[in-house]
Amino acid sequence: RDRPKAYKLLTKAADMGYPKAMEKLAADLLFGYNGPQDIKASVSLYATLAEGGSHKGQTALGFLFSYGIGVEYNQAKALIYYTFGTIGGNLISQMILGHHYWVGINVPRNCEAALTHYRNMANSIAKNLEKNEDMPVEKVRLMEILENLSSNNDFLDWDVHQYYRFLAERGDTEIQVIYGEGNAVGLWGLGLLYFHGKGVPMNYTEAFKYFQKAAGKGLANAHGQLGIMYYSGSGVQKDYTLALKYFSLASQNGHALAVYYLAQMYATGTGVIRSCRIAVELYRNVCELGRWSEIFLTAYFAYQADNIDSSLVQYAFLAEMGYEVAQSNSAYILESAKVNILSKDQLYPLALLLWKRAANQGNTFARLKIGDYHFYGYGTNRDYVTAAVHYNVAAYQHSAQAMFNLAYMSEHGLGIPKDIHVARRWYDLAAETSPDASLPVILACIKLEVMQLLNFTANWKLSRLGSMLGPQWDLFAMVFIVILLILLIRNRQN
Ligand SMILES: *[C@@H]1O[C@H](CO)[C@@H](O)[C@H](O)[C@H]1NC(C)=O
Ligand SMILES: *[C@@H]1O[C@H](CO)[C@@H](O)[C@H](O)[C@H]1NC(C)=O
Ligand SMILES: *[C@@H]1O[C@H](CO)[C@@H](O)[C@H](O)[C@H]1NC(C)=O
Repeated sequence: RDRPKAYKLLTKAADMGYPKAMEKLAADLLFGYNGPQDIKASVSLYATLAEGGSHKGQTALGFLFSYGIGVEYNQAKALIYYTFGTIGGNLISQMILGHHYWVGINVPRNCEAALTHYRNMANSIAKNLEKNEDMPVEKVRLMEILENLSSNNDFLDWDVHQYYRFLAERGDTEIQVIYGEGNAVGLWGLGLLYFHGKGVPMNYTEAFKYFQKAAGKGLANAHGQLGIMYYSGSGVQKDYTLALKYFSLASQNGHALAVYYLAQMYATGTGVIRSCRIAVELYRNVCELGRWSEIFLTAYFAYQADNIDSSLVQYAFLAEMGYEVAQSNSAYILESAKVNILSKDQLYPLALLLWKRAANQGNTFARLKIGDYHFYGYGTNRDYVTAAVHYNVAAYQHSAQAMFNLAYMSEHGLGIPKDIHVARRWYDLAAETSPDASLPVILACIKLEVMQLLNFTANWKLSRLGSMLGPQWDLFAMVFIVILLILLIRNRQN
């Protein structure tokens, strides 16, 4: 196999026992980056690393044990390794444990514990965000904005001039600015210059002025900055109520740092009534913006390239960190049965586990899936009662399919009492909920009515007919009814 040169060097370094090289190589082998996947080699590298105290090795082992990839499935061991990883300062382990405590995976649900873990992680992300917000970066060329500004009266010529001169002095005429918002972005940029004292003397009063102007034009970044100034009392009187207002405004537009500060306020009860639940939701939001969401891309590309195992491991890793989409995707891949790194009898139980996690985060499709798994006995025992419970939840989340299934189950008395009227009601609801369901519903209702009629006139005949045709008898009945209908319509037309 023709691996790139750098990869060979990496392998060499890993062979010589350099921990950083070993970590990199182990990850490449596990996820299938830069070459083919080799789970076995990856596991042995990670085991060596973990023994040597590498928090990356410990986290990876936790992940492997939690799915039974390359090692025996063992949730207790997974938890131990994640704990080691967290103690060693691993942020991903922090996030995984946060998610575990938040939803109650292998540990009792515990909001405060979840809060602690998510906050540690969010603190580190916020630090990076603050560092990177020094100056606006990339996207739209400033020259274009300046052109637009000069024709815009409410932007003072003086400011344009100063800004332009400043940039010119730095020799930075190519400097680029986020988003095409033009004017507001320019104002915000000026505010940042005064806020950080770059090229101009630091002056919070000036900064505040520009942030306010930009905020007046609805710029989320400016809202966020105003929030920070009110929160910390820089240049203005500390005002938690206003801070809360601006952080909320900025959060609604996806300003990550504002979400972080909002979380801080709820976690500490500053300016608001303390709420662990809201704080965790907000911290989670910040954490999920982390750099590793790039894995979503590589996972997707791997799937497109038919590297199913590589894609699965990547999605499963993100699933472990609590991403609902990744939980659903992993489950979906598992049930496609194209997976080779797990034994066939592992697939459905794992898929069910992941559908459950996704469903608990509010995914209705996942909830429906759990119903199906219990109905058909995939990855668990066949259990109509449990299936009906999950279909019920999905039905209340407006799943027409779940309503249809419930109708069928009450029509036949599977898991719930046999009740034609209840069945009828579910069929009607399904048709109301989704136009796609109308045709199946019409057919099912016609069948229901005809069955009732037949039952009324010749109960004993039907049951005998039923035993003759076998378990598919209602299918035969449907076909019969449809043929009857067609004949009827034809007769009318004649
Ligand atoms: C500048 O103005 C033109 C025309 O009004 C517009 O198409 C363009 O998007 C603007 N550019 C920026 C960066 O706002
Ligand atoms: C900051 O700017 C204001 C004008 O907005 C000015 O009155 C003040 O003296 C400046 N402060 C410093 C420290 O330069
Ligand atoms: C048929 O009749 C029996 C008893 O007479 C009743 O329990 C059952 O629900 C009926 N089935 C239908 C489809 O109406």
